[in-house]
This record gives sequence, C-alpha cells and structure tokens, in this order.
Amino acid sequence: DASYDLVVVSNRLPVDRVVDRKGDASWQTSPGGLVTALQPVMRQADAAWVGWVGQPGLEFEPFDSDGVHLIPVSLSAIEVEQYYEGFSNDTLWPLYHDVIAPPRYHRLWWESYVEVNRRFAEAAAGAAADGATVWVHDYQLQLVPRLLREARPDLTIGFFNHIPFPPYGIYSQLPWRTQIVDGLLGADVLGFQRPADAGNFQRAVRRLLGHQTKTGEIRVPEGDGERLVTAKAFPISIDSASYESMARLPEVQERARQIRADLGNPRVVMLGVDRLDYTKGIAHRLKAYGELLGDGELQVGDVVLVQVASPSRERVETYRLLRDEVELTVGRINGDYSSIGHQAISYLHHGYPREEMAALYLAADVMLVTALRDGMNLVAKEYVASRYDEDGILVLSEFAGASDELKHALLINPHDIDGLKAAMMRAVEMPEPERRRRMRGMRKRVMANDVSKWSSRFLAELGESGAK
Ligand code: G6P
Repeated sequence: DASYDLVVVSNRLPVDRVVDRKGDASWQTSPGGLVTALQPVMRQADAAWVGWVGQPGLEFEPFDSDGVHLIPVSLSAIEVEQYYEGFSNDTLWPLYHDVIAPPRYHRLWWESYVEVNRRFAEAAAGAAADGATVWVHDYQLQLVPRLLREARPDLTIGFFNHIPFPPYGIYSQLPWRTQIVDGLLGADVLGFQRPADAGNFQRAVRRLLGHQTKTGEIRVPEGDGERLVTAKAFPISIDSASYESMARLPEVQERARQIRADLGNPRVVMLGVDRLDYTKGIAHRLKAYGELLGDGELQVGDVVLVQVASPSRERVETYRLLRDEVELTVGRINGDYSSIGHQAISYLHHGYPREEMAALYLAADVMLVTALRDGMNLVAKEYVASRYDEDGILVLSEFAGASDELKHALLINPHDIDGLKAAMMRAVEMPEPERRRRMRGMRKRVMANDVSKWSSRFLAELGESGAK
C-alpha cells in the first residue's frame, strides 16, 4: 500500500536467501555497506526497500527483516539473463568502466532492461506515500527516475550511480544513449562518485539533448518552463567505526596473528581483495608481483601475496574467461616461485564474513588496490578503517574514486608495470614513521567521512530540492 515516506530502490534487496540442510529458508541481512548506511535512516522513517531477491523465478510477498520493510521484485530466468547478466553486466558495466572489456549491444537485452525498469518503477510508485522521497540506486535502474516521475509527479526522486559515468566519447557508443540520459533526468538530484563522473554526465546531456548546464545543475525544459536537476559528486564511504571496532576485538586480533602464522610468519604480507572482476586490475598486480620475484627483488618466504577473489557474475562469459586467466597466472607464479613450505601466492576464490576481512586487513603490511577503473573502491577504505594501530601501507590506483580522498596512499597507474613494481618495493621498504604519517592522514579522512555522512548529505540535498 502507498504509505511509505521513504522508498529505496536497488537491483538487489539488502538480504540473502539462505536455505539450511533441512531445506528451510530464511533471510540474512547482506554484509554490504549500503544496508549499513541506510538501515538507521530506514528504521526511523516510515521506509521501504524495493529490490530483487537475487534468484530467478521466485516470487515473494513483502516482508520485514531487521526492522526494514522489504518489497521483492521478481525476475524470470530470461530476465536474469537479459536484464541482469546481459544489459546490466555485459553492456553497461564494461561500457561505464572505460570499455576494459568489449560491451555487447543486443536489442533484446535492452527491451528486457526497459521492461524490468518499468516493474521496479511500478513497485516503487505503489509503495510511496503522497509527496514521498524515492532514492534509486545504480546502473541497473537508470530508467526508473523518469518512469517514476511520469507516474507520480508528487514524488521527490534521487538517483545515485555507484559506478563511474564514462567520458562522452565512450558513452556515445551506446545505441540507447539518449533514452538512458533522459531516464536519469527524471530525478531531482543525481549523485555520482567523483566530480569527473558528474562532468561526464553533464557533457552527455549537452551533446544529446542540448540542455543548458552549469556546475552542479541542469536546466531541463518542461512544459512552458524548466525544472532544475542537481548533478554532482557524493563520494560514498563505509561504516568506518564498525571496521575499527571489529579490528579491536581480541578474537579478530588473534585471528590476524593466526593468519600470519599460517602463512609462515613472513616479513611482509601483501593483500589483494576484490570481486573477481576485470575492472580490478588483478592481472596487472600479479604481473608486477611475479616480475619482482623473478628479478630477485622479493623472495618467497620473506614475502607472500594473499589474493582474495570473491566469485562474481559467474554466468557472464567475460567473467569466466577472467577467472581462467587469473588462475592460470596464479598457478604459473606459484609453480615458478613457491617452495614446499612457502607459497608465493595464497589464492582464495571465496567471499568471507566481515570479521575475517578485518583480520586479513590487520594481518596485511601492504594492501594492493590496482583497479583499472572503479567508482570508489570500498576495500581501500575498509583497510584504512581497520588499521586503528595506524600502520600498514595502501598502494592505490589513481583510477579508483577513493584516490580523490586518499592522497596519503602510494598512488599508482596500474598500466605502468614498472611504476607499480617501484611502488610495491617502496611499500616493502618504507620506514615506520612514514607509514604511520601516511596512515594517520588517511584515517582522518575515512573515519570522519563515513557512509552515514554520505547518506545524510545526499538526503539533505534531496530534501532541499523537494522544497524548491
Ligand atoms: C558493484 C555494483 C553494485 C552490485 C555489486 C555486486 O558494487 O555497483 O550495484 O550490487 O557490484 O554485483 P552483483 O552483480 O553481484 O549485484
């Protein structure tokens, strides 16, 4: 029923369906940052969350979980293939990440995207009270703002893009480039990760629709007048305090010591943590590390690389090929450099709970974030937030949004393998005072700008636009 003052819309609901041995199903709040960010807001307001349960074919009635009202949208197996795996993750994802992999353009996928966006918009329109605020998330749902505005002109509509928005020269490949930009402009406030993303979007609007823009604002002609749409950067963050307090738990610290001991107590533990995605630059990182072992600059036993690659989008071919490539490279490096007692790379194709991640972050002397393009990269911020001991070095790609804020990291261009190797060596050799100075600088930023600041900043902006 149309009674919620705040409606959040995202492709996935913030819960996972888990089925136990007896076949009984239950819902578990997923570990993502967005849930943590919005849960307090949602518990206060009369709020609902619209999203997909993450499995094809299943239909569910709305239900409450952890104090949040959830409204499931169901997707058929074909829609999962065409809207989610196809258009969202084989067209938009590579296109928006600088075409690192070739985007595939299929008209049937587009039609499914339109259809599914319509279904999300209808669900949100059905839940929103008169004059409510609706906050739509990410690239899977870019048509929802316009569809919602058409159905419900009384609503205040926000949209946040969690991934980059590409330069016009790349964006213009998209056969449906005008429809997407127009879909987004149904919102009152459009949020992006970096100022550059907001700038790219505004340029697309000027080129495709001819609307006038100035910094942070777009004039959208409507009827006889015009509507002002805000478009600017709201860099997302994490629940920083919860990472710090997890890392302070005695059992997490004991686990960190155990991890180092299991690795053979090397002098240097390097760590990579990524969804297994071609945007993350895992191959570049492995190449640099393998060469340092080959050059004799690093020695197995003295150093180890732990690479966590959590399974992701495994039915999309590009992801399958990437997995083969990464695992071949890991196998080669281990074959060439490991000894019976010491591995060069400890490779883990699993996802882990947050406590285990905090322990890994504490155990790691050097954190490697080498993304070729990344909206923000929350792993970089999680590492910093976990290091309450003010030690540890972050090697960070300038192509990740996090590099706008984390200027005290060792910033690198992952395409420049020699530069990356030099930064890794600098990290390994960095004296403690410099490590601490840099980590303190980064912690100031990450502890102060947490995800609840991010959501209140966005919602405040949305509130002001609603008052116009
Ligand atoms: C990125 C996207 C999210 C997405 C997540 C996991 O962070 O911005 O929208 O939910 O990846 O991907 P998945 O396809 O499993 O939802």
